[in-house]
Amino acid sequence: MKNKVALYGAGNVGATTAHWLAGMEIADLVLFDIFGQVAAGKALDMFESGPAIGFDSRIYGSNEASIIDGADVVVVTAGVPRRKDPETGQFPSRDELVKTNQDVMVEVAANIKKYAPDSIVVLVTNPLDAMCHVMLNETGFPRERVIGQAGALDTARYKTFIADELDVSVEDIHGIVLGGHGDTMVPLPRHTSVAGIPITELLDEAKLDDIIERTRKGGGEIVGLLGYSGYYAPAAGTAIMVESILKDKKRVLPCAVYTQGEYGYHNLFIGLPAVLGRDGVERIIEMNLSDQERAMLDHSADAVRSVVEVLGYE
Ligand code: APR
Repeated sequence: MKNKVALYGAGNVGATTAHWLAGMEIADLVLFDIFGQVAAGKALDMFESGPAIGFDSRIYGSNEASIIDGADVVVVTAGVPRRKDPETGQFPSRDELVKTNQDVMVEVAANIKKYAPDSIVVLVTNPLDAMCHVMLNETGFPRERVIGQAGALDTARYKTFIADELDVSVEDIHGIVLGGHGDTMVPLPRHTSVAGIPITELLDEAKLDDIIERTRKGGGEIVGLLGYSGYYAPAAGTAIMVESILKDKKRVLPCAVYTQGEYGYHNLFIGLPAVLGRDGVERIIEMNLSDQERAMLDHSADAVRSVVEVLGYE
């Protein structure tokens, strides 16, 4: 039987994820969004591109949540992005955004539980790590089936800048970015290589520091240019997670995962290397971190905890 992927939220990231997935031909796709007929319209438009590109995925959309019925994977992008208020010109405070999207996530979780109780949830809505907590609590799903997308994007940005700087193929860059999704993310130059050659032999420290800083601020750089968040790269990071799950590839991707003792953390979503397969997070890989790397990860964990506190869960 063909796989079914539901895109819960058909805004920029949701629709673009569908676009990448359609080309991969790994599932039929359904788009759901509460806003007018946007999901139906984007789905039909994308479906009609199939004959030209040559993909056979079927794509449907609706403003009825029941369309996600029986999905194997649900990609959640529904929510309110961090956008300037058109009247006041102000960004919402972090806590306001947390509360707003928490309410959305409670509703999303209820629908997923109702229509796709066996699905694996790949969550993208920010603030990511906190929204993962809401999803886990509200669905009651086992931790393997609630996974946050952050590291796949952050790592892609990191690799892009390295490949661009060295003028080599992105395919030969290996590296990983851990931690929470935000300014405290933890790029690991000690674990970065170009076809196995340590990055520290190819780039001097100052250049590498620049790349790390640019990676940390990668989301903000796009917002500065567009006035709203990026979506091609976030969607691509999401699509490779879905691909690894559906094809049971068992790729090792940095994902926001719920820790129960790994790296000494308990009951906290944080970006760690995870093996993604047909059961979701099949394993969390524990790396040996230096004292400095460990301190950066702890700092990141503290930042995640401070956002999670706003949720008001015990
Ligand atoms: N149910 C279904 N859809 C909803 C709901 C809801 N309760 N609330 C909002 N949406 C939809 C909106 O109608 C919108 O189409 O979610 C969509 C969000 O899309 P965009 O506003 O285009 O935001 P996008 O850029 O896709 O980002 C989505 O991903 O990367 C993160 O920070 C980003 O949290 C944001 C999320």
